[in-house]
Amino acid sequence: MSYDFTKTSPAHEQFWMPFTPQRLFKSNPRMMVSADGMYYTDQDGKKVLDGIAGLWCTNAGHNHPKIKEAMKAQIDTLDYAPNFQYGHPTAFEAAKRLTDAMPDPFTHVFFSNSGSEAVDTALKIALGYHRAKGDGQRRVLIGRERGYHGVGFGGISVGGIPYTCAYFGQRLPDIDHIVHTWDLEHNAFSKGEPEWGAHLADDLLNTIYLNDPSNIAAVIIEPVAGSTGILPPPKGYLKRIREICDEYGILLIFDEVVTAFGRMGEMSSTTYFDVMPDIIVSAKGLTNGAVPMGATFVTSDIYDTFMNGPREIIELMHGYTYSGHPLACAAAIGTLDAFEEDNILENARKMMPIFEEAVHSLKDKPYVMDIRNCGMIAGVQLENYSDDDPMLRTRTASYELFNRGAVIRYSGPTMQLSPSLTINEKEIDQLVTMLGDVLDDIGSGKVSGVLA
Ligand SMILES: Cc1ncc(COP(=O)(O)O)c(C=O)c1O
Repeated sequence: MSYDFTKTSPAHEQFWMPFTPQRLFKSNPRMMVSADGMYYTDQDGKKVLDGIAGLWCTNAGHNHPKIKEAMKAQIDTLDYAPNFQYGHPTAFEAAKRLTDAMPDPFTHVFFSNSGSEAVDTALKIALGYHRAKGDGQRRVLIGRERGYHGVGFGGISVGGIPYTCAYFGQRLPDIDHIVHTWDLEHNAFSKGEPEWGAHLADDLLNTIYLNDPSNIAAVIIEPVAGSTGILPPPKGYLKRIREICDEYGILLIFDEVVTAFGRMGEMSSTTYFDVMPDIIVSAKGLTNGAVPMGATFVTSDIYDTFMNGPREIIELMHGYTYSGHPLACAAAIGTLDAFEEDNILENARKMMPIFEEAVHSLKDKPYVMDIRNCGMIAGVQLENYSDDDPMLRTRTASYELFNRGAVIRYSGPTMQLSPSLTINEKEIDQLVTMLGDVLDDIGSGKVSGVLA
């Protein structure tokens, strides 16, 4: 089989697809028409094993009856009511249920419609917090190289991916970054959190001094960097970041859009890593992907600071028409119910070591140069094909896997696996075996791709 990524097709021209090479997709469309549990059905009626939980969101599996039921009941009762100046009970109930489910320090939640909005909300809360304390010169936001925080101007500015930011020629002022933690020489094929690299957290000290500590508002990082290739934190790294932030009065934001709601076998990865930030950003698994929603969780210290701050009327000048939309709130409540009833966290914890062993069995497959995993996420990094088209191998593998009946995501040279947390041992084996076979066939030349 040879994939020709150079052809274009006039079909489906109108939809400008997100983060997708349009011509490539439109010449080789891969359409899902329905989904249930661990599987999609594609346009040809083929069952496709979903190895990435939608896009890291269907943690409880597709088409979950509890979530559907909650959404149907809501839509029959109240389609929409604003949460500006008025309110509706489902939003208050969702806020209570979600803050109860999160670790203790997180007492309040601000709703939005996506991870990107939840990130921008967190950054604005951090800036507003310092201003409310009379410390308004704290305005510098620090992200990390290879961080992904969505596509809002705040998110791309603190994000550490040049092509999502530099391409537009503009970002927020007063931004800085610390170094990433990926290191092939010391950490290749680490299982879980790498042993080496906690000292990289000290790069934060350099960045703080360069900007003067009194100017820094917040540090934002993903506990496990997801989109840029699955980079688990070295052991002790997150704790050191927390210590440094505490020492200099800097807020710590964990972007848990990927890691919350079960990916690490916990509602929040903060309990898995035993490190508490001041703000948690979430989305995706929050509603099991059934309807868009973002949620930014804060501590009582942050909330109370706004309540006792200088702004007496509207304490936080921020919000979206659909903040706490009834349907999204119902889906979030349904998701929590599904987690409880189906023991989803328990299954995730049981599968984590099995998943780890399975993905690391790919070590000797053609072109594999690193395998990284943490909780129920893994990345299999392949050698770049060429400078012109480094992703040719991962792209070809993704197309061939789809033809054989599995979906995984690729980003740059890394194949990403992140299945629903309802997966069983047999399905893990099926997914990893299929990926291994595809890599063998690419290695032997039986399967190839044409440059885009
Ligand atoms: C860590 C992280 N933050 C933010 C986002 C942005 O979320 P959304 O695409 O819902 O705006 C993502 C999306 O993948 C993410 O992985």
